[in-house]
Amino acid sequence: MSALPELPDHQLDPKLSAFLKAMPKAELHIHIEGSLEPELIFQLAKRNGVSLAYPDVESLKAAYAFTDLQSFLDIYYAGASVLQTEQDFHDMAWAYFKRAKADGIVRSELFFDPQTHTERGIPMAVVMAGLTSACERAERELNMSSGLILCFLRHLSEDDAMATLEEALPYRDQFIGVGLDSSEVGNPPEKFARVFARCRELGLHLVAHAGEEGPPAYMASALDVLKVERIDHGVQSIHDPALLQRLVQSQVPLTVCPLSNVKLCVFKDLQLHPIARMLRAGACVTINSDDPAYFGGYLLENFRQTFAVHQLNLQDAYQLAKNSLTASFAPDHEKQRWMAELDALYAGYAG
Ligand code: ADE
Ligand code: ZN
Repeated sequence: MSALPELPDHQLDPKLSAFLKAMPKAELHIHIEGSLEPELIFQLAKRNGVSLAYPDVESLKAAYAFTDLQSFLDIYYAGASVLQTEQDFHDMAWAYFKRAKADGIVRSELFFDPQTHTERGIPMAVVMAGLTSACERAERELNMSSGLILCFLRHLSEDDAMATLEEALPYRDQFIGVGLDSSEVGNPPEKFARVFARCRELGLHLVAHAGEEGPPAYMASALDVLKVERIDHGVQSIHDPALLQRLVQSQVPLTVCPLSNVKLCVFKDLQLHPIARMLRAGACVTINSDDPAYFGGYLLENFRQTFAVHQLNLQDAYQLAKNSLTASFAPDHEKQRWMAELDALYAGYAG
């Protein structure tokens, strides 16, 4: 590989920047409700006659000054209240897919939070139909592959999660797996042991948020009790060398979200974010956007800022794209095709 020229801090080499955009990559940690841009929130509020606590887009945006996960979740759930019809869910997801395509994403695995909607009286059928039709349209019109992952809200009870699973089972062929999100601290993975065991029996893929704000022990129990295949965030592993070693050895993928972690004050700034250390340690790290409408950037922006600040290189970019493709739940034939495309592209850039 040819050496990249030295550049001042926080600037990206144009060739590296072009590669980051062009490389085929998967996004594995995106809450579709977190892609609701303020403009779309107001558009849907008007369409559905929903009144918001903020008079206009600017004042809503001004409220996006989060101090921790909970301060974000309060606004995120309020934003999701504008979603009422199948068309609303479709429009939200379709807007995301168009942006994802522009970032060079070939595969997106979308988290959705049905309890946020069903507890407001929106039928599960409406949520599923709107999201599924957007996924099908993305395949047809954008040649994008996708899958839906149903997340249980961990601040609610396991019984509630179990009831939500039952409600979703008529749509079993419309989602590929389940996850666990919302307020982490005080809601350990063990709380959801039974519902995850049931999902496992059903052959669903299993993931869970762990080690975002919560302790490294939550990551261990997500693996040991819930038997997840990937960990969402996992950045607290930097404080537990034995756990990090376990993650390196097992190559359990970690869906890391750098801009999210800074915006939610998990780390003071991007320079202090452990992603480069985790990558150098050999963990199977991927980069993701989490809730891009709220955190100041979609996937490519997460890559660009992370690469600039941590002075990552072309080989790192290749590794991160490869990790994302291999860690995805896409069919093997798709993964192989994207890997061949990635290898060919990398050979052209690195040669
Ligand atoms: N729901 C949406 N974004 C989330 C995050 N970053 N952590 C936990 N739950 C979430
Ligand atoms: Zn998340």
